Amino acid sequence: MTTASAEPPVIRLAGLSYTYPGPPPVPAKRAMDLVVRRAEHVAITGPSGSGKSTLLNLVGLLDRPTEGTIEVDGLDVGAARNAAGPRCGPAGSASYSSPSTCCRTGPRWRT
Ligand SMILES: Nc1ncnc2c1ncn2[C@@H]1O[C@H](COP(=O)(O)OP(=O)(O)O)[C@@H](O)[C@H]1O
Ligand SMILES: [Mg+2]
Repeated sequence: MTTASAEPPVIRLAGLSYTYPGPPPVPAKRAMDLVVRRAEHVAITGPSGSGKSTLLNLVGLLDRPTEGTIEVDGLDVGAARNAAGPRCGPAGSASYSSPSTCCRTGPRWRT
């Protein structure tokens, strides 16, 4: 029987970093780890400029991490995008369940 704790996390971030290319380059996120499981509620807090929007852009697959990995439902989303095309993500509104479904079942490509 599958339990919630045995399932892969809905979101797993490992060593996630992002640097805006610039010029000049702006390191905005450094080596972040995060695990979010089904039914968990997460609040992202921090002062202005601490990287909240940058993080959400990465988790929403709007930007590609400079370093690290993003898994959605156990699927390495970065690898899936690299293998299949330039960008796979929610075609409409952002939803955490959409990217993995999209990459697993047949992506709708963004340009
Ligand atoms: N498009 C961008 N180009 C360069 N630097 C950016 C850009 N967007 C945000 N930054 C920088 O990245 C850091 C994190 O910003 P941001 O993610 O917007 O923080 P928050 O949402 O927590 O206010 C800040 O230093 C900000 O100035
Ligand atoms: Mg913001």
